Amino acid sequence: MANDTPMFVIENLHASIDDKEILRGVNLTINKGEVHALMGPNGSGKSTLAYVLAGHPSYEVTEGSILFNGEDILEKEPDERARDGIFLAFQYPTVIPGVSMANFLRMAVTNVRSARSAAANDGGAQKLAPREFRRLMREKMALLKMDDAFATRYLNEGFSGGEKKRAEILQMALLEPTMAILDETDSGLDIDALRVVSDGVNALAGPEMGILLITHYQRLLNHIKPHHVHIMMSGRIVQSGGPELAMELEAKGYEQLRAEVAAD
Ligand SMILES: Nc1ncnc2c1ncn2[C@@H]1O[C@H](COP(=O)(O)OP(=O)(O)OP(=O)(O)O)[C@@H](O)[C@H]1O
Ligand SMILES: [Mg+2]
Repeated sequence: MANDTPMFVIENLHASIDDKEILRGVNLTINKGEVHALMGPNGSGKSTLAYVLAGHPSYEVTEGSILFNGEDILEKEPDERARDGIFLAFQYPTVIPGVSMANFLRMAVTNVRSARSAAANDGGAQKLAPREFRRLMREKMALLKMDDAFATRYLNEGFSGGEKKRAEILQMALLEPTMAILDETDSGLDIDALRVVSDGVNALAGPEMGILLITHYQRLLNHIKPHHVHIMMSGRIVQSGGPELAMELEAKGYEQLRAEVAAD
């Protein structure tokens, strides 16, 4: 792969659910090392975009393409995309009764690492022994200031809103994705938790990783500094800019922007 191949390219993406078109021509390019924030009113299609990128089977892509490291991933299953390095932290994480968080994470990490080792043909060098996995999990839990007791609890069962969000970031920390999509990871977090989670994301971010951060609040962007900010409305990105765009939005609200976009 040439170095100048953009990492993640979304081109003219259209997607529907039950024959209702939600995404109506999304264009977005994310390079390694870049943090992109995606904002936009309720119902504009932000979570739909996240689901479609992760390969959720309920959505039908009717037009356009998603290229990851130059390869079209549209035909790939969600687990293949995860093994390739795409990670989605859900806006509404699901409860998995009967599966402890530690077991869930161990399965996910084993799956991804085995596949990466196979792809790199390194004789399983990236696999983790159970003891190493537990050590790594404890280390990442400490980073996110999560109590050890969470490891043995069933995944997300009875977790508070903020605890679920931390569990998602813990998963990200263990999977080490190259393209991370975080859907409203800040929602429901108290001020201290927001800092802990943001610090966690910042600690994971780096020159090899692209991040798409979906959020409603400029506040989060004080902690995780985006290089680019995009506004989605009615299934399209209608405006892009730098961090100042989020400030402007905070001041003006969507109504004024809607009017400006309509007038263009
Ligand atoms: N399964 C579905 N059936 C019908 N409509 C759906 C379905 N899933 C999503 N939609 C519709 O698609 C539109 C976009 O929803 P989406 O969740 O992507 O918005 P969002 O931008 O993430 O909003 P929010 O900021 O509230 O999270 C909404 O009008 C929603 O009702
Ligand atoms: Mg949403």
